[in-house]
Amino acid sequence: MTNQMGRILTPDSLPKCLPQATLMVKGHEAILSVPSNDYTFSGKSAEMIQGIFSFLNGTNTVNIISQKTCLASEDIISLLDYLCGESVLIDINNENKGSLTGYQLVELVKQEIVFWRQHINNQIFWEKVHNGTCSKRQILGWGIEFYHYVDAANEYMAAGVAYCRESIDVRQKIAAHYAEESDHGEIFLQGLMKDGLSATLVKKSLPLPSTRALINYLNEVAMESSLVYTAVFSLMQSDGKSFSKIDLTEYYSQLIELYPFAQGMFGSFLKHALIDARLDHQISIFENLYANDEIISHREVKRTFVTVRQLVNCFILYYEYLFEYYGKEDSQLPRRAPQVIDFLLAENKG
Ligand SMILES: [Fe+2]
Repeated sequence: MTNQMGRILTPDSLPKCLPQATLMVKGHEAILSVPSNDYTFSGKSAEMIQGIFSFLNGTNTVNIISQKTCLASEDIISLLDYLCGESVLIDINNENKGSLTGYQLVELVKQEIVFWRQHINNQIFWEKVHNGTCSKRQILGWGIEFYHYVDAANEYMAAGVAYCRESIDVRQKIAAHYAEESDHGEIFLQGLMKDGLSATLVKKSLPLPSTRALINYLNEVAMESSLVYTAVFSLMQSDGKSFSKIDLTEYYSQLIELYPFAQGMFGSFLKHALIDARLDHQISIFENLYANDEIISHREVKRTFVTVRQLVNCFILYYEYLFEYYGKEDSQLPRRAPQVIDFLLAENKG
């Protein structure tokens, strides 16, 4: 039941299962359900998953789970390693991974990204987008905040090139990646214009604090090292599964059907996704640069995971707050600088 990486967890691991995972018992079987799959356990594995499931929240070590459930650590690790390989579970103990080869690090990051994508996709924002219950403000507000995020490539990707301290070859690849992304903000601006927004007002609008926090974080990451900087693209570039032109077109057509006023905006999302597909962005720059035999130190491995997880937090807050802010009927769209009157109750606004 271990994956091709061999053992991933240790007795010190802090296993965290996808928060949306549920466990159902049917006769002698236990079914673990996550959005993308159901895992059926039978016999001893079924008993084990029932015993340990409630402890898989990232706060209990395997040793503690073993003590509380009287199950052997080795058996728990075998079962959890399998779930890790399926990206249903991660070890959130950042101290737990030693130095790794580039291949191993890239593989572990890819597994973890699948985990976090499911978590991000399960946020209320996406549920509302897909069931058609977002307001016009929320959809167009998303378009504006997304424009700010995409256009910020000219900040943080430029920093990624400037602060590269590796070989010329690595810097050239990072620079080429920046060049490919540098004008993508314009695609989203054009889309918003088609939907009736003023390009000048969108460009001048203030990003929400949460959007700015995401961009600021990317700026810091870009200065730290090329390894952690490129690792963030594992999350930000598409996962490669959704790169079929037919699937992309169908997905955005459905969104246009739900939100016909945002035809221009979703047209831009589609156009952008197709450009990324053409540029082979389904293999991230991180994989291109670091999937090799070079040894990556424990410190760098740790920084990679800390960074990816922090970026997940930034994205969750980004979606959460744009949904909240543009959910208010009196919110500015596009935003201008906040004024005191924005925070007064309606009856006091005069
Ligand atoms: Fe892009």
